Amino acid sequence: MSIAARLVELHRNATTAERANLKLILGLSAGNLVPSSDSLAAESRRAVSETLELLCPYDVPDPRGLQYRGRPDFLTDDLFDRLLQESISKREIAIPFDEHYLGAGGLVADDVALSAELAALVESVVPGAESTGIASYLFYKDEGQGIDPHIDTDIFSLNILMMLQHRLPGTEVEPSALYMHYPDGSEERLQLQPGEVVIFLAGTQAHSRTRIGADESVSILTFGFMPKGAPIENYRR
Ligand SMILES: [Fe+2]
Repeated sequence: MSIAARLVELHRNATTAERANLKLILGLSAGNLVPSSDSLAAESRRAVSETLELLCPYDVPDPRGLQYRGRPDFLTDDLFDRLLQESISKREIAIPFDEHYLGAGGLVADDVALSAELAALVESVVPGAESTGIASYLFYKDEGQGIDPHIDTDIFSLNILMMLQHRLPGTEVEPSALYMHYPDGSEERLQLQPGEVVIFLAGTQAHSRTRIGADESVSILTFGFMPKGAPIENYRR
């Protein structure tokens, strides 16, 4: 029996609390294993990734990578502008974390989080998901801020990420970007444009944002979705 199959069996026989802990350990392992290049790490990364994919709560043809990338029809110039203005109003009062600043949603973002339009977009690419109602503005504004490879907790197991604003560094510097990290050690760079939206299964797909440089800043808005009918207490902050 493969390591992944054994871990899935362990998960199946675990209590809810034990499952949450196992998921946490798998998520931390996935993040830590991404940068390693030795063969033992490669084998472990494959096992952890395979386990996470087997435990993926969504039924999609391929849980890896992006499920959607584009500018959705509902994101009119007017709506985008209202979201941008709301993000600017949250930017200075956002709570500092090590790697970024976190602003709670606002009236406009919360409306989108629970809108039929966003639900329809998600349903068209990842059937069987529903909004947690949680929208968060994230800001990278201090030099060196970014996020190392990681797997998200359940409240963002399906993550919809909208790029709002990217103040680019000088032309000779590579700008910060979102990355997807794959089980075979490869990665995909995603340089998102303002108004661009991506949907990915952040609870199983390792991802990161490279560090911002001097004179660079990034503002994004994220919405969390969860499997329909899942116990909401698992999906609260
Ligand atoms: Fe994340």
